[in-house]
Amino acid sequence: MKKIRNLPDLENLRDGILKKIGNEKTVLRTCISTGCRAQKSLKVVNTLESTIKKKGLQVKIDIKKTGCHGFCEMGPIMVVEPENVFYRKVRHEDVEEIIFALTNGGVAVERLLWQDPVTKERTMLERELPLYKKQKKNVTYKNGKIDPTNIEDYIAVGGYSALGNALPRMKPAEVVDMVIASGLRGRGGGGFATGMKWRICSNAPGDMKYIIANGDEGDPGAFMDRSLMEGDPHSIIEGMIIGAYAIGARRGFIFVREEYPIAIEHLSIAIKHAEEYGLLGNDILGTGFDFSVKINKGAGAFVCGEETALMISIEGKSGTPKLRPPYPAIEGLWGKPTVINNVETFANVSLIMSKGADAYAALGTDNSKGTKVFSLVGKVMNTGLIEVEMGTTLREIIFGIGGGIRKGKLFKAVQTGGPSGGCIPITKIDMPVDYDSLKDAGAIMGSGGMIVMDETSCMVDVARYFIDFLMYESCGKCVPCREGLKQMHYILKKICEGNGGEDDIEILINLSRFMSTASLCGLGSTAPNPVLSTIRHFRSEYESHIFDRKCTAGVCRNLFEYAIDPDLCKGCALCRIKCPEKAISGEKKKLHSIDSSKCIKCGICINSCKFEAIMVT
Ligand SMILES: Cc1cc2nc3c(=O)[nH]c(=O)nc-3n(C[C@H](O)[C@H](O)[C@H](O)COP(=O)(O)O)c2cc1C
Ligand code: FES
Repeated sequence: MKKIRNLPDLENLRDGILKKIGNEKTVLRTCISTGCRAQKSLKVVNTLESTIKKKGLQVKIDIKKTGCHGFCEMGPIMVVEPENVFYRKVRHEDVEEIIFALTNGGVAVERLLWQDPVTKERTMLERELPLYKKQKKNVTYKNGKIDPTNIEDYIAVGGYSALGNALPRMKPAEVVDMVIASGLRGRGGGGFATGMKWRICSNAPGDMKYIIANGDEGDPGAFMDRSLMEGDPHSIIEGMIIGAYAIGARRGFIFVREEYPIAIEHLSIAIKHAEEYGLLGNDILGTGFDFSVKINKGAGAFVCGEETALMISIEGKSGTPKLRPPYPAIEGLWGKPTVINNVETFANVSLIMSKGADAYAALGTDNSKGTKVFSLVGKVMNTGLIEVEMGTTLREIIFGIGGGIRKGKLFKAVQTGGPSGGCIPITKIDMPVDYDSLKDAGAIMGSGGMIVMDETSCMVDVARYFIDFLMYESCGKCVPCREGLKQMHYILKKICEGNGGEDDIEILINLSRFMSTASLCGLGSTAPNPVLSTIRHFRSEYESHIFDRKCTAGVCRNLFEYAIDPDLCKGCALCRIKCPEKAISGEKKKLHSIDSSKCIKCGICINSCKFEAIMVT
C-alpha cells in the first residue's frame, strides 16, 4: 500500500484498483450488517467461503461482505452480480444450491426469490423489488454494494473524490459557500442549515476548533445512522474531513453509542485505513492540512444525542444538556468553536463536493434539498431502510415503497421524528415529506424514524408510550421537563385506564405549552409533540376514552371487550385452543363465545383467528 500524498496519487490508485477488479467475476454481495447478522449471515458467508474454496471456484466467484441493503426483515440478504439476482432469507444450507445454480447455467434458486405477499409472484432482480424501485438512493447508494471494511472498495466507486475536489482545489471559505449553495439542512433533528453553521464556526475566533459527527441515534425503532456507519463509514469520515477543512478544525470525534458494536468496529477500521493511506493525519493530499478523528463511545442515553449533552459527555462528564446560547459553533467542546452534525449530514457533504451544489440542489423541494433516509417500520408490508427525494408524499412512501398496510387493515397514522415527533393522520397522506410540511402537520423530520400505524393502534396509548420513554430518558436537570413529563405520563395513563377527567385534555395542552417554552433543552421542549399532535388530529379518541370510557382500537384493556362475530365465526376452535385463560368456549364447527369475566384481553385470540371473527366492542 502506498501513501496517498496528493491528488494524482489518489487518481492513480483508483485507476489501479479498477484495473485489478476487472468485471469477469460473479460477485455475491452478502449483507453482514446488524439485521442480517442477527439472522446468521456470518454463517452463510463462512459456508460460502469454504464451499467456493472446496470447489476451486475462487477465480470465478467473489464474496463481498456488505453493509445493509435496506430490506432487513428479509435477511440474510444476498445479491448475485452482475445479474442483480436478489435472494432473501438465505441460510447456510442454501449455499450448495446457490453455487450449483451459478455454475450450471446460471438459473436462479426460485424459492429464495422475494415473493409478493398478496399476488404470490416472485421477483428476481433487486432493482425490480417494490421496496427499492421507487427509492432515490444517493446517500445509501454504496450501502450493500461495497465492503465497508475495505477502503479500496470505497475508492473504486468514487470515494474520496469529493475530498479531492475540495481540499487541493478550493479555499475553506469556498467549501462553506458551496455547502450553503447546496441548501443542505442537518439530518439529525432540527434541520438547521449546515453551511450557515459552518460559516458561523469558521468566523468564530480561536485557533482550536472541533468537528463532531453525531451517531448517537437514540430514537426507538430508528436504524438509519447505524446502517450508514456500518455500511459506508468512509462517506462520513470524508464529509468530516471536508467540514474540518472548511471550519479550520484539526480534531474530530464520532460519537457512537456502545450498543452499536458493528458500527464502532467498521468506523475504527475505516479511520485506521484512512490514516494508513494518508487521508487522515498530517498534510492531507499535500495541502498542509492536518486532521485526526477519534471515536467516542456513548453509554446509550437518549439525551446524550442532544448536542450540548453530547459534548459534555465527550469531555468526560455526566451527559446533561447546557443552556444555549452560546451555541456550539461559538462555544462548544472544551469551550472552543465546534461544528456538530449528524452522520447522514456528513455523508451528504461528500455527495455535494463530488456532484456540485447545483446538481445536489436539483433534488428536493424549495426549502428541503436532496434526499432523506428513513427507517420505515410498523404495520407496513415492507419494512426497512429507505431513501427518498425530499418532497416525496407519504402515500408514495407508505403504499408505493412500503406496499401498504399489513393484513388488509386500514392506515391510521404515521409517526415521524422519533419520540419527540408527531403523528400524522390519513387526511394528510398526500402531504410531501419535507421539513416544513412535517412541522406544519405538528410533527418533525427528526433523524428519520417513520412508524406506520393501522386501525388497531390507539393514539392515546401511542402518546403515552412516547411520553413514558421520554420520562425515563429525561436527565432531570430542569423542572419543566422532569416534572412536566411525570405529570403528562400520569394523566395519559389515567386516561388509558379509563379514569380520565373532563379537564385532562386542556391540562395536557397547557402543560405542553409550558414545557415547550420553559425546558432547558430540546428533549423537554419537543416532548409535548406526541401529545399535541395526537390531540390535534385524534381528539375524538381522547374524548371517547374520557367521556365514553371506550378504546375503539382495542388497546386500552379497561376500555373494551372482545366478542365473536356470529356471521364470521366458523367454529375452527383455534381461539379456544390458544386462549391462555380458557375464556373461550364452543363446539367444533359451531359459534364460539367469550366469557368476559375470564378474558384478560391479551389479544391472542384476535391474532390467531383466520376469519377476522373476533371484534373489539
Ligand atoms: C434529546 C435530543 C436527542 C438528540 N439525538 C440526536 C441524535 O441521536 N443524533 C443526531 O444527529 N442529533 C440528535 N439530536 C440533535 C442534536 O442536538 C443536533 O442538533 C444535531 O446533531 C445537529 O446535527 P445536524 O445539524 O446535522 O442535524 C438530538 C436532540 C435532542 C434534543
Ligand atoms: S441488515 Fe442486512 S439488509 Fe439490513
